This record gives sequence, C-alpha cells and structure tokens, in this order.
Amino acid sequence: MVTRVLSGNIAIEEGAKLIKDGQVVAFPTETVYGLGGNALDPMSIAKIYQAKGRPSDNPLIVHVASVEDIYPLVSEFSDVNRRLVDAFMPGAITLLFPKSELVPLEVTAGLNTVGIRIPSLDIARDFIAECGVPIAAPSANASTRVSPTTASHVFEDMNGRIPLIIDGGECEVGIESTVLDLTAAIPTILRPGAITAEMLVNVLGEVKTHEGEVITSAPSPGMKYKHYATSVPMVIAESIESLINEYDLRAEEGLDVVALVRAEQVASIEGRRCIDIGANDTEVCKNIYKVMRDVEKVSEYIICIYLGNEGVCSSVMNRLIKSVGGKVV
Ligand code: TXA
Ligand code: MG
Repeated sequence: MVTRVLSGNIAIEEGAKLIKDGQVVAFPTETVYGLGGNALDPMSIAKIYQAKGRPSDNPLIVHVASVEDIYPLVSEFSDVNRRLVDAFMPGAITLLFPKSELVPLEVTAGLNTVGIRIPSLDIARDFIAECGVPIAAPSANASTRVSPTTASHVFEDMNGRIPLIIDGGECEVGIESTVLDLTAAIPTILRPGAITAEMLVNVLGEVKTHEGEVITSAPSPGMKYKHYATSVPMVIAESIESLINEYDLRAEEGLDVVALVRAEQVASIEGRRCIDIGANDTEVCKNIYKVMRDVEKVSEYIICIYLGNEGVCSSVMNRLIKSVGGKVV
C-alpha cells in the first residue's frame, strides 16, 4: 500500500472519503498524532489494531468534533460530566463514560465504558466533522514505539500500512491526553497528561486513584504493556553528577552516548554530547518524543536528566520511567 502525506483542505477531504470507505487514516491532534477509523464500524476498528500491531484487549479512545456528538455515545451524562466538559473540552483530556449501545465492544475491548475526547486542534475537529462519524484512534505509533508528534514520525512507523497521513505540523502538547475515569465513585486519573490532577481538583474538589489516594495517578489498562521505548537503551539520571558519571562510564565502554538535559543544564555537561530538550516544562513536554526519536537514530545510549515531579513534568516522567523500564542511575 502506498502511504500518501497530504496537508490542508485536500487532506481533510481525502481523509474523510477514506474513513467513509472503511479505511484507516492518521491525523494530527494537539497531543500526539492519532490512527483513526470509523468508531461505529467493527471492520475499521480491526484495521486500526492491525496497522498498529496492538493487542486487542487495549481499548481505543473515541474522538468527536463537538459536545453534542458525545450524547449518542454515552448512556449517562451527569452534572460532574457537564462541569468537566465545560472546563476542559476541547482539550488534552479523555473522559470515560458508560457507553451506549451504539459503541461497538470492539472499540472498548469489551468494556462497558468508552473513552471520549474532543481535540482542541482545529484540523482534527474539521477532519472528524467532515467524516460525519465518531473516530476511534489510538496514538499513531506502531505498538510499543514512542508516540508520534510529527507526520514524519507517523510515516516512520506506518509507511505501507495505511493509505494517508494528514500532516498538521508539530503537536503543541507533545504527550498523550489525561485519561480520567468518571465511572468510578470518585473521579480517577488512569493516565496523567497535560491536564493535571491539580487542574482537575479545582473543578471536581476531589480526584483519586483506585487505591484511594488523592491526586495521584494509577495505570490505565494500556499502561501494563511496554510503551514509549526508544530503539537504543535509555536511562534516567537523578542528578547532573550521576548523569556525568554514567556518561563517562558508557563512553569508556566505547558507546556513542547522548545526554538529554534542560537548557540551563547544558553548560554543566561540560562539552559532552547533549541535547537541550527545552527551557521550561511546556517546551520539555512538547519536545520530548521528537528528541527521543531523533536521538535514537544517532546514538547508542541515551541518558535523560530527571525532570522533577511538578505539573506536566510528572506526566512526562510517567512516560520516561516506562521508556527506561524503571532504570534510574
Ligand atoms: O492524546 C491522546 O489520548 C491520543 C490522541 C490520538 O487522542 N490517543 C492515545 O490513544 O493516546 P492510545 O490508544 O494510545 O491510549 C489510550 C489509553 C490507553 O492506555 C487505554 O488503555 C486507555 O486510554 N483507555 C481507552 N479507553 C478506555 C476505557 N474504556 N477504560 C480504561 N482505559 C481506557
Ligand atoms: Mg499510545
């Protein structure tokens, strides 16, 4: 299969035609690129799982263009739902609802809940609206790979597997949406993202993990799989000192090492090979996946500095700890 990459209105029109024809199309959102198919059509869903190489017990998020499009997909819409939708949608959040009959079990991997998201990126909403159906979409990486934040990342993983990638440039947020379970007695964060627990608590008063802790995160079903892995080994360094020690040790072993550090830390690396991943938390979040994909091509060993546990960086660290399989030096 030839994979075309298009942008602008023509891309949206072509993409919508393919979706109506039961095909899978990659499209940009403000978080990461998605691999979209008609959420109401089990055959399209099967094609998504196939293109991604994803285990089919990991549910897909359903994307819609406007709040009204949520109603037919859910069997309940409470006051709390209303407050969250008003506060955070469109945006980088996925809310779990009890699903209606309309949503096939193939999308939810057999669960009675459905994750729904309204992307804030205009191109994404225009595309979904043009399709005229809800769009099921996981991140557009091959299963276990780092999520894509540019069309060329998608091309790396999906060339030959899908007919079209809609190019909307670089994703502004850079990590996947926050997944919030509203079907639990107390709203529970299943996957942390750019919409943080602190922001949710402002609206909800209370956010819990399923273990009953306030403002902490717990893994969603997909988090048990190996995720976000670079193709060369990577570790986290808890300080600049341990980063330098690890760097020199590995360099002595003959490995081509690259360090990932914040802008203000570049000088303290003292001439060792390093990449500046951003001057503030928002930049770090936006750049992290792109940097990981770039660096794995030109190095044999990656050491990323610990980014802290504040705000969006706690979400970035959640992904990085998975990438390194818990390896901290
Ligand atoms: O930002 C995003 O969320 C991106 C863009 C494309 O929208 N999508 C994305 O999808 O990251 P995916 O499939 O890579 O991750 C979805 C996560 C998985 O961890 C999945 O287990 C969880 O959401 N999820 C989806 N539906 C769920 C449900 N009904 N119950 C529990 N977890 C669910
Ligand atoms: Mg994913």
